[in-house]
Order: sequence, then C-alpha cells, then structure tokens
Amino acid sequence: MPYSEYQPIILNPQLIEIFSRLRISDSEGRVFSNKRRKYRQVEAFSTHMLKLLAEAPEDARLTLVDFACGKSYVSFYVQADKKVKQQNNIEIIGVDEDGGLVTKCNKIAGESGYDNMHFYASSIADFNLVGEEAPFLAYALHACDTASDDAIAKAVEYGSRHILIAPCCASTDIKQIKAPGIKGELSTRLGETVVNSMRGLILEYMGYDVSISEFISQTNTPRNIMIAGHYSGRQNPEAWQKYEALKEMFGVERTPMLEQYLAPRLEQMAR
Ligand SMILES: C[S@@+](CC[C@H](N)C(=O)[O-])C[C@H]1O[C@@H](n2cnc3c(N)ncnc32)[C@H](O)[C@@H]1O
Repeated sequence: MPYSEYQPIILNPQLIEIFSRLRISDSEGRVFSNKRRKYRQVEAFSTHMLKLLAEAPEDARLTLVDFACGKSYVSFYVQADKKVKQQNNIEIIGVDEDGGLVTKCNKIAGESGYDNMHFYASSIADFNLVGEEAPFLAYALHACDTASDDAIAKAVEYGSRHILIAPCCASTDIKQIKAPGIKGELSTRLGETVVNSMRGLILEYMGYDVSISEFISQTNTPRNIMIAGHYSGRQNPEAWQKYEALKEMFGVERTPMLEQYLAPRLEQMAR
C-alpha cells in the first residue's frame, strides 16, 4: 500500500486494545495523526519479525530480545498478533536505559495480561541474559547512535539465531567516513551506507547470512535500512577482507564501534 502520512489508519481489531493503551490510537482503533508515520514503521518492521516466527519450529521455546525498546511498540505489535497470542512458547524481553519507559512497558504488559513480556532498565552493554536460551530473534528499531552496534554485539554474544537491526543515526562512525568531493547530506548518506555495510560484513564474517534492505519507504523515514542476519555457522573470511578494504578506501582511522565491541571474539577467531 502506498504510504501517506495524511492517510487515516484504522487498526486491525487485534491491535486496538494494546495500541490505545500505548496511546498510538484511540479506543476505536484510529491511529493519531502524529503517530501514523511511526505506526507504519512499527508495522513494517514487525512484519519481518512475524515472518521469522511463522517459520520457527512450533514446539521450541522462543526468546525475543528488543534492544533499546523505548515504548516497545514493535514488541507489543508482535505479541498482539493472533497466532503469537495463542502460542505459549514465546518470551519477549525488552531492554532500555530509560527506567521510566521500562516501568510503563511492564505496567502495560501486566494490564494486558502479557505475562511473557518483561522489560529491564539497563544499558544494552550491561545487560546479560541470565538462564535464557540463545534468543531466536534479537532486534533493535532505531537504537540511537552506537546503541545499534551494542545491540548487534550483544545479539552475537548471546548466539541469536536471527538479528534484525534498523539503525538510527550512526553519527559516531559516520563522521569518520571520508571521500573526496562528497559533502553535506551526501556525506551523511555515504557514511550510513558504508557503516551499515561494515556492520553487515562483520556479521557475515561471524557466520551470519546477511541481507540489507529498505524495510519501509524513504518517504516515511530516511532511517529506513534494515540489516538482517540469519545464523548459518559458516564464517566468511572474505567478508573480513572486504571490511578491511572498506576501512582503507574510506579513510577510517578509529576502530569502528562494532569492531571494538566484538574485539575479544574477533581476536579469538583470528587465532
Ligand atoms: C529512538 S528510540 C527507539 C525506541 C524503540 N525501539 C522504537 O522504535 O520505538 C531510542 C531508544 O534507545 C534507548 N537507548 C539509547 N541508547 C541506549 C543504550 N546504549 N542502551 C539501552 N537503551 C538505549 C533510548 O532510551 C530510547 O528509548
């Protein structure tokens, strides 16, 4: 369906209760006009998650981890899905450093009877999954700056089977991408392209099959790229060579954040 931020959105009945609690819509399911753009992002991102869940073995216990969950729209969208709601094998964990948002999410989950959802106040870097199996899916929608790198690093560390990351503004690493004659907005776009490609290459090197695509139209948000990693166990040394080539080509001097976060693992692999 073509996107228009002016076009009214009426929610599917299964979403009305939770999205009116989240103050995205009124109690009739009409999405508030200032939330339409965000709603479309959540819907598009969640569709990828639901596809992966539909392919998951039905008897397996599935842990989902929402990094930098904020108000956890994506997690609540997935939880409210008719099929997911009927399953009792899914646990959803949200992590955000904003304690106020985490308290709200736990309250809304409780009021909605979603006993399988738990939210924790923590930075991504400090959060450890205790006693959980490797996540089926770890994801982050628009985690700010280097939080997307934190999320990818943690997802790898936990042994996540699938990883979906839609980065926000990777300013820390973008700033060090240089190319002659490229400036202004184009410099930002080039930086994002290179940084997201480097993230994908590290994942490939570590044994993930990676695709990078637009999860929603650029008219909705310029932050419309999704990095999807699916664990295959096939480490790809060529990907590392490409990663090093990109760093050289674009004058990267400081070690990119994801490489820093994964340093112990990368060193182990290089031995
Ligand atoms: C733009 S919001 C996105 C929230 C949510 N994923 C969504 O799409 O609605 C970014 C969130 O990341 C959280 N955040 C940023 N850096 C973080 C970090 N290092 N660890 C945990 N949370 C972080 C912020 O508190 C904020 O709630």
